[in-house]
Amino acid sequence: MLKTLRYWLQRIRLRVFALYALVLALFITAVACSGSAPEAEADAEAQVGISPELVTDYIHVALAADRTAYTKHVVNRSKTLEGKDNEKGVLGIEATEGWQDTDGIPLPAQMFRLGYEIGNELSEGAFTYGLISPWYINDNHAPKSDFEQEAMDAMIESGEPFKGYQEVGGQKYFSALYPDKAVAEACVTCHNTHPVHLERYPDKEFEMGEVMGGVIINIPIEES
Ligand code: HEC
Repeated sequence: MLKTLRYWLQRIRLRVFALYALVLALFITAVACSGSAPEAEADAEAQVGISPELVTDYIHVALAADRTAYTKHVVNRSKTLEGKDNEKGVLGIEATEGWQDTDGIPLPAQMFRLGYEIGNELSEGAFTYGLISPWYINDNHAPKSDFEQEAMDAMIESGEPFKGYQEVGGQKYFSALYPDKAVAEACVTCHNTHPVHLERYPDKEFEMGEVMGGVIINIPIEES
């Protein structure tokens, strides 16, 4: 009698062990497959696609941040350093348009242009960006395509970014134009008194808060 009981207990233990082993094996297979199946990864990537609108928004934040950081931490320090005015030249530099011919550093708009000239070269046209304005001092900043003209008019009217699709040379682009507003008195005074501005747009006087132009970002779109 005791012998039979021991025999059955032994058999039950064996079966439970086998069941555990099976569950463990299934679990390991499931984890291993979900971790490395190439199709599953490709599917996941396809689902994590990012809208072109979000891409231009992100690029714009990075560009605007760099421009503000340069104005705040470089240009402004050439005027006031650790609370002291730069009357006697705390730093022997000045942000000036003719920076290459003097002991100067570029104006923020020039610094931005120097950056986008390098950026557009580095990206080999994969995406492009720049500054445009109907009241441009630099000829390179004139709105070029019909799209840019239309986007500029709409943006000046609304004060909001303008986004849309355009085709240039057979290539489709998603383009976004972000307003560049007169956020400081210096924007207004410098542009309103600039000799090129006075000559070209004698009737245009910028006011604080006004849209002075915009940052255009173009990213190529592959049609599927
Ligand atoms: C000290 C003078 C000065 C100040 C201050 C200044 N700018 Fe400019 N800005 C210029 C010059 C010069 C250019 C042309 C730069 C170039 O050669 O690419 C320019 C270019 C621009 C452009 C591109 C269109 C164009 O005229 O070529 C925009 C838009 C612009 N500035 C907006 C602003 C805003 C907004 C501010 C204030 C946050 C500002 N600027 C402050 C002198 C100034």
